[in-house]
Amino acid sequence: MGERLAVVSGGGTGIGRAVAAGLAVDGLDVLVVGRRAAVLAAAVERISAECGRAGAVRAVVADLTDPEQANLVVEAVGERAVDVLVNNAGGYLGGETGTLAGVAAHWRANFDANVLTAVLLTEALRPALRRPGGRVILLSSIAAQRGGGGAYSAAKAALHGWAYDLATQLGPEQVTVNVVSPGYVADTEFFGDRMTPEGHAKRVAATLVGRAGEPDDVAAAVRYLAGPSAGYVTGQVLGVNGGSVLGR
Ligand SMILES: NC(=O)c1ccc[n+]([C@@H]2O[C@H](COP(=O)([O-])OP(=O)(O)OC[C@H]3O[C@@H](n4cnc5c(N)ncnc54)[C@H](OP(=O)(O)O)[C@@H]3O)[C@@H](O)[C@H]2O)c1
Repeated sequence: MGERLAVVSGGGTGIGRAVAAGLAVDGLDVLVVGRRAAVLAAAVERISAECGRAGAVRAVVADLTDPEQANLVVEAVGERAVDVLVNNAGGYLGGETGTLAGVAAHWRANFDANVLTAVLLTEALRPALRRPGGRVILLSSIAAQRGGGGAYSAAKAALHGWAYDLATQLGPEQVTVNVVSPGYVADTEFFGDRMTPEGHAKRVAATLVGRAGEPDDVAAAVRYLAGPSAGYVTGQVLGVNGGSVLGR
């Protein structure tokens, strides 16, 4: 068993899996959380091989929009302290917005997926956060800073305001809270079948470095904020977007 423990929501795929693998390589034990058991099991196997520590990674199957299921993570943590909490679960949810009822359902779904998942998991684990030294990291989006995603943009932007309050509350207990805001990251399930070659090219062209982001680009930022050298960084938004949005 490692000395430090991380919880990564959405750790079965994409950015979350890269974050979980990076933290496991850094020596932390990791709990990955998501709704699909088979996806999580595959991630556990892959990350365990990558970090070379059998038993370092465990899965918790939970829909984090549901308070009762968020408590399943608390049960899995048990008596241990949580050194690093990465609220990565989320995504863009489409929907029929031709009626007001549809608009309401669409906005609630995006708020649930991107805000409530993070709020419920954080509140559930708040008593267990390592004091001093705990780290809370929220995955937002470039869409929060420049729009373009409607309800998704608004939901991600809500994380920023909440992160500032959380950082204020937990700072005196030496727990940091920061937001990582990725730009376009390929090779995840985020876009599903929505991405086209034109959409990809447009997003790459919007960067200053002329390429799509990779999950490891974002994981590197999370690993920095999760590490001991970032103890004086809190209440910040760190953009990982290839220069698509400057200095916000
Ligand atoms: N890819 C990009 O270009 C991009 C850009 C900016 C921000 N982001 C953000 O980065 C984060 C990771 O996205 P990604 O690109 O890696 O996409 P992804 O592969 O779709 O990852 C999202 C993860 O969240 C989990 N999840 C979603 N709803 C959940 C719920 N209610 N309870 C528990 N787990 C849930 C999913 O697993 P299950 O379906 O099994 O639950 C999945 O593993 C998201 O918050 C996304 O909004 C992505």
